[in-house]
Amino acid sequence: MFRPAYPIRTARLTLRPFTIDDLDDVYAYQRRPDVVRWMLGAEPRTREQSRASVLAMAGEDALRAEGDCLALAAVGDAGVIGTVELVWRSQLDRTGEIGFVFNPDHGGRGLATEAASALVDWGFTEFGLHRIYGRCHGRNAASARLMARLGMRREARHVASYLFAGEWADQLVFAILDHEWQSRTRTSPW
Ligand SMILES: CC(C)(COP(=O)(O)OP(=O)(O)OC[C@H]1O[C@@H](n2cnc3c(N)ncnc32)[C@H](O)[C@@H]1OP(=O)(O)O)[C@@H](O)C(=O)NCCC(=O)NCCS
Repeated sequence: MFRPAYPIRTARLTLRPFTIDDLDDVYAYQRRPDVVRWMLGAEPRTREQSRASVLAMAGEDALRAEGDCLALAAVGDAGVIGTVELVWRSQLDRTGEIGFVFNPDHGGRGLATEAASALVDWGFTEFGLHRIYGRCHGRNAASARLMARLGMRREARHVASYLFAGEWADQLVFAILDHEWQSRTRTSPW
């Protein structure tokens, strides 16, 4: 079992597992249409749906087997402002997938990038991954910019590759390798 030493601290945030006490903060962003706008299958959540989501995320505090998701609450002065996730996609290929959802009330300050950077760093440095990738809708510009800020390379645009809200959508794929991350972190502010 691979469990980070909690809390993970960044310059402005702490990352730690969710608890049910985080429900109000999580519901505050999961209920917003602008947050789920580009997320496949996601609709603005009811409070009860957010409760189920928080309970599920509370159990995602470690990577025990391939396929598991590590879901961490990003906590700032205002409480929980977002979620960062790392899914263990392949044990053989030592590959993980990063994900992030943040409250727009706290957007535009680099906080999501800061949190994602800390989780990517854990994935490479502590968990021993070889490659981390991320995917987003072709029109999810904020997500694409975040991954580019992390130093991830845009490796693909899968054109009209999946059905999103009844229409064919492009999917962008970004990725970074362990040695690229290590050389980047020697020079990057993140
Ligand atoms: C994706 C998401 C987390 C990005 O949020 P964000 O606020 O743009 O990201 P950050 O918190 O890292 O802030 C970065 C922005 O702050 C700016 N910024 C301001 N001060 C900064 C600082 N001190 N450090 C870094 N960036 C700073 C950056 O320039 C950047 O702006 P830009 O993208 O217009 O160039 C957010 O849009 C979101 O949650 N979307 C909904 C969920 C979603 O789609 N998730 C992805 C699914 S694939």
